[in-house]
Amino acid sequence: MSKLALVTGATSGIGKAFAERFAGDGYDLIIVGRRQDRLQEFADSHPGTTVRTVTADLSTADGIDLLARICATEPLDMLVNNAGVSHYMPLADLPADKAQELVNVKVLAATQLMRAAVGPMQQRGTGTILNVAGMIAFSGPADKSVMPRRAVYAGTLAYLVAMTQTLAAEVEGSGVTVGVVCPGVVATEFHSSQGLDMSAVPRMSADDLVTGALRGLELGETVSAPGVEDYQLLQDVFTADLAAFGGQAPTLATRYTE
Ligand SMILES: NC(=O)c1ccc[n+]([C@@H]2O[C@H](COP(=O)([O-])OP(=O)(O)OC[C@H]3O[C@@H](n4cnc5c(N)ncnc54)[C@H](OP(=O)(O)O)[C@@H]3O)[C@@H](O)[C@H]2O)c1
Repeated sequence: MSKLALVTGATSGIGKAFAERFAGDGYDLIIVGRRQDRLQEFADSHPGTTVRTVTADLSTADGIDLLARICATEPLDMLVNNAGVSHYMPLADLPADKAQELVNVKVLAATQLMRAAVGPMQQRGTGTILNVAGMIAFSGPADKSVMPRRAVYAGTLAYLVAMTQTLAAEVEGSGVTVGVVCPGVVATEFHSSQGLDMSAVPRMSADDLVTGALRGLELGETVSAPGVEDYQLLQDVFTADLAAFGGQAPTLATRYTE
């Protein structure tokens, strides 16, 4: 029997590259996005693959509920939470509806789809959940000259990293694998769709990003970073995170008492 993968945001870029890869690897597919014409185009161009298209807006409660039901009932071997928008703007300028759309798609939808899928995967003793975050998750300490104008976007990616790490520990030993991939800059429609020209910036291909993400899972990397040559850099972050976490006490630190 074929394996089954569900990919959100499969109408372009990284999600489409995941869908292409899984189709090539013999998976049946459930592909999700708002642009039905592109989903249908994908299905038509892969006649040898069983493709179910689901047109849904993951910024809405109805769209999230529809996909969560599918994640709870279909025997998914692979769930890729990839859909996303950027809306790079200083928080004070970010319209409330765009802030909500961003958080709904990147945080709420990903959370509800994971929540729906993970129990049945644990019961089956198999399954993989892969979230698409980004290196911007680690950019919090950067000052304005380096990384301005995207507080909400950065926050959503950091959420995915922390949640995936914690969930990975929750499902340990159950046969379920959970990972998050952190792309740098990838050549997709992500920036052009908001009027940003990134063509002069060196960018990874979506295909390479997918290769890195899937190899990262094989290597047992809960957090993968296909553009980072030295993985020790990430290990150092995680070691420092745990040192800070473990460095707390119930007493007021002396610098706050002087
Ligand atoms: N490109 C980069 O440099 C980069 C870097 C780091 C992280 N990422 C992450 O990679 C992921 C994929 O981005 P990409 O680079 O491949 O960009 P993209 O080409 O713009 O693709 C974004 C995908 O998300 C879907 N999507 C957006 N809003 C949606 C909604 N409300 N409901 C359902 N689907 C929605 C889009 O489909 P429809 O428009 O058809 O709905 C599209 O398929 C994003 O989550 C992004 O945060 C990208």
